[in-house]
Amino acid sequence: MDEISRPELFDFHGVWMTHFYTDNWENIQNFQFRPDDVLIASYPKAGSTWVSYILDLLHFGQTLPEREKSVPLSKRVFPLEIAFPSLQPGPSQPKLYGTDLINNLSTSPRIFRTHLPVQFLPKSFWEQNCKIVYVARNAKDNMVSYFHFEGMTSFHPEPGDWSSYLQRFMEEKMVFGSWYDHVTGWWEKKQSHPNIHYMFYEDLVEDCGRGIDNLCCFLGLSPSSEEKDMITRRVQFDDMKKNDMVNHSNFRWMDFKKSSFIRKGKVGDWKNHFTVAQSETFDEDYKQKMKNPTLQFRTEV
Ligand code: A3P
Repeated sequence: MDEISRPELFDFHGVWMTHFYTDNWENIQNFQFRPDDVLIASYPKAGSTWVSYILDLLHFGQTLPEREKSVPLSKRVFPLEIAFPSLQPGPSQPKLYGTDLINNLSTSPRIFRTHLPVQFLPKSFWEQNCKIVYVARNAKDNMVSYFHFEGMTSFHPEPGDWSSYLQRFMEEKMVFGSWYDHVTGWWEKKQSHPNIHYMFYEDLVEDCGRGIDNLCCFLGLSPSSEEKDMITRRVQFDDMKKNDMVNHSNFRWMDFKKSSFIRKGKVGDWKNHFTVAQSETFDEDYKQKMKNPTLQFRTEV
């Protein structure tokens, strides 16, 4: 793994962020969406890679089958907000901006993703009335996954030990801000915006085929049953974990000795991390923060 300096968290318009996601802010806010763009949004570690792969296969699995072997998923579905140093070694290499990478995509529709909270989406997105798939995951498993990810990833702040991480999550001092505000903000936006498909990681784990059917319905796609079977097989956890085109194993700033990107893929892994006392404190605090009774998560399936 290559080292880059771990970034500092700072308050950015009321949301904790790092410069890797704010350095290109003007271009993000002026980004021009197209009406057929499909955006995948989530809080970090809620399953956006999984959903990205499903959408990529649904749209291009038949028409561009060769890219399955030659183009990593990270180069098919770019994050809008990234402003990363070049992936090539050398000080004079240009930076990687999500907005440029997306504008250079030759595929149609363009599928790309974001972890931005709802209030940060560029104006053009709403003007073009694009389709958006939001994937949400229960707070406890989401936090566990984020903890392992930040341990292995040098472009995020150090996670520290588990109990201080848990405290920081409850204090909502995470990159991309508060989990509670993120999932609730998108949920409430969906009530007035039919082009948001709000889906849950837990439902996808429980019945991936049904999740894919719902996505097809939302996106107006009608794959053949063979195609759907093929996609359902390819996006299974074990297959994705082995697949070097989707598991990020060649990503320079992740330390795979510490963890994997496609790590456990379970609902309920939080039970291996929270003590009983931590779980009770967390649940109490959760009740205070999550005031919208229509938004319910499952912590086991
Ligand atoms: P875990 O760390 O709990 O295993 P994101 O893509 O948004 O960063 O989310 C990553 C999480 O999604 C990781 O969770 C990863 O293992 C899980 N994931 C990725 N592909 C999956 C799949 N096919 N089935 C179940 N979980 C998957």
